[in-house]
Amino acid sequence: MKNIGVLTSGGDSPGMNSAIRAVARTCAHYDIKCTGIVRGFQGLIENNTKVLYTRSVRGIINRGGTFLYSARSDEFKTKEGRKEAFKTIEENEIDGLVVIGGDGSFTGGLIFMEEHNIPVVGIPGTIDNDLYGTSHTLGYDTALNTATEAIDKIRDTAISHHRLFLVEVMGRDAGFIALNTGLAIGAQEILIPEVNMSIDNLINSLKRSKSAGKTSTIIVVAEGDKTGNNVFQLADTIEKKLPRYEVRVSVLGHMQRGGSPSCFDRVLGTQMGITAVESLINNEKGIMIGINNGKINKTELSKAIKGKTKINEELLRMSKIMNT
Ligand code: F6P
Repeated sequence: MKNIGVLTSGGDSPGMNSAIRAVARTCAHYDIKCTGIVRGFQGLIENNTKVLYTRSVRGIINRGGTFLYSARSDEFKTKEGRKEAFKTIEENEIDGLVVIGGDGSFTGGLIFMEEHNIPVVGIPGTIDNDLYGTSHTLGYDTALNTATEAIDKIRDTAISHHRLFLVEVMGRDAGFIALNTGLAIGAQEILIPEVNMSIDNLINSLKRSKSAGKTSTIIVVAEGDKTGNNVFQLADTIEKKLPRYEVRVSVLGHMQRGGSPSCFDRVLGTQMGITAVESLINNEKGIMIGINNGKINKTELSKAIKGKTKINEELLRMSKIMNT
């Protein structure tokens, strides 16, 4: 390994900068050139690169977003696009690639590795926590704290106005953010794609809480939940069935992806960045760096993408106990 490339791809997540910094500085430590690729796989197609020295990555560990910028590249999904991207690899004499991103980015990275025989190591950068083989993806912890803080504020209005709030949090296919923030803020119900809560059960739960004297309520809904067609329709349905409720919807959206990374995500990004470079040096490829029980681990990229991390349904049960 004489030259390692690094890119961030897909949705940005807090902690990506800490991983980029760790990759660049570990390369410097082992006397390896580090090539930063700007705007993910799209930047690889467009030969948009810059050499990263130790000092190039100063002052970024505390910053949200990604210093290398990101993109969701449709061109890279085509064989032609990947051919163009490989030209950049050849021109810059890159020997191995660290891909920081989610499942879509890993899928692209894996195909690229197989087609062009370039070693790829993945760092799971996504707030969704939906990759198999790691208990925490990079950015997930920060997103949990951001969402919790935001919902705490919404609660102030819910209490003041005796309202029911449906708060939608991110998670296209996974309910990790909803489940944990829901428990943290004391949600009446938590709706996630992994567990089907029928409208009838939801309505019964609201009736019970009303008759128990509850005046304000928060329901946390994961973006991918299918109880209603979407969170606004769900609000309409509730208002029709329970006209005494004054319902409001709040979609937290992209604010959950931004902001300064938590201590946990900075440390995790550093550990993952160092391990990714050392793995490439040791001729390992096609793996994702993860963490479990505080220990850094490695999972085959193909398994990380396809495997399903089970949601901790025990947390749902506990949430119900808290609402008796
Ligand atoms: O994968 C991370 C994520 O934030 C999802 O939770 C969300 O559904 C999606 O990205 C939004 O993507 P975009 O920023 O491209 O709209």
